[in-house]
Amino acid sequence: MKILVVADEQEMSLEAARIIGALVRTKPDAVLGLPTGSTPLGTYGELARMHHEENLDFSRVRTINLDEYIGLSDDHPQSYRAFMRKHLFDHINIDENNTHIPNGMAEDVEEECRRYDAIFYRYGRTDLQLIGIGVNAHIAFNEPADCFTPDTHIAELTESTIDANQRNFDHRDEVPRTAISVGMRGIMSTRHLVLIACGEGKAEAVAKSCFGPVTPRVPGSLIQLHPYVTVIADEAAMSLCPVFFSA
Ligand code: GLP
Repeated sequence: MKILVVADEQEMSLEAARIIGALVRTKPDAVLGLPTGSTPLGTYGELARMHHEENLDFSRVRTINLDEYIGLSDDHPQSYRAFMRKHLFDHINIDENNTHIPNGMAEDVEEECRRYDAIFYRYGRTDLQLIGIGVNAHIAFNEPADCFTPDTHIAELTESTIDANQRNFDHRDEVPRTAISVGMRGIMSTRHLVLIACGEGKAEAVAKSCFGPVTPRVPGSLIQLHPYVTVIADEAAMSLCPVFFSA
């Protein structure tokens, strides 16, 4: 595991965008696994800038998002499809047919989960999987549990995740209780796993994920078993890590 400790959120965002940009330049049809949340916003902004100012070409890039709320349609402002359009897809030259996000309105949600896994099988594996992390160390919507779930599945969100995600909705009652989430196989099968984290709210999740026991009670801890992981975290998010020395 390579850990890059950076000064702040902006540096984290630029570093992650630099890695993604370099991949897209060397492999123009790269398959990117992408997250939502506030953490990747700066990275998406920088990728859009690189597209406009440095001709970073996304025309052949394919993307697979990690998750979607069940019950929110594509055009609901808090759906992850709307999020991706607003923060990335509308600002780059990606073909939306090459972007994949679970359908939160599917009539048969189990069938939608199988359809989504088939996309991973079709593409083989993602070239790079960018992930954020929840305060309880969830990744995608793989919440702390008794066992890891390999496949795309219906995730019941924990109260702490609902609390954390409430900030994007007018009322707590509006936050969906369930989501379709890629499982650990989809995440771990990537060639290069890049975890980004910033702020002291993530410090415990980062310390446990990078240095604690590997356990489904700390979903992020599974990344320790991946052969090629880059963690990009600011000093605040790294502050509880045993190897962290403040400058
Ligand atoms: C959501 C997403 C995760 C994300 C997490 C952290 O629950 N499903 O993929 O990593 O939030 O979000 P934030 O980056 O806003 O802290």
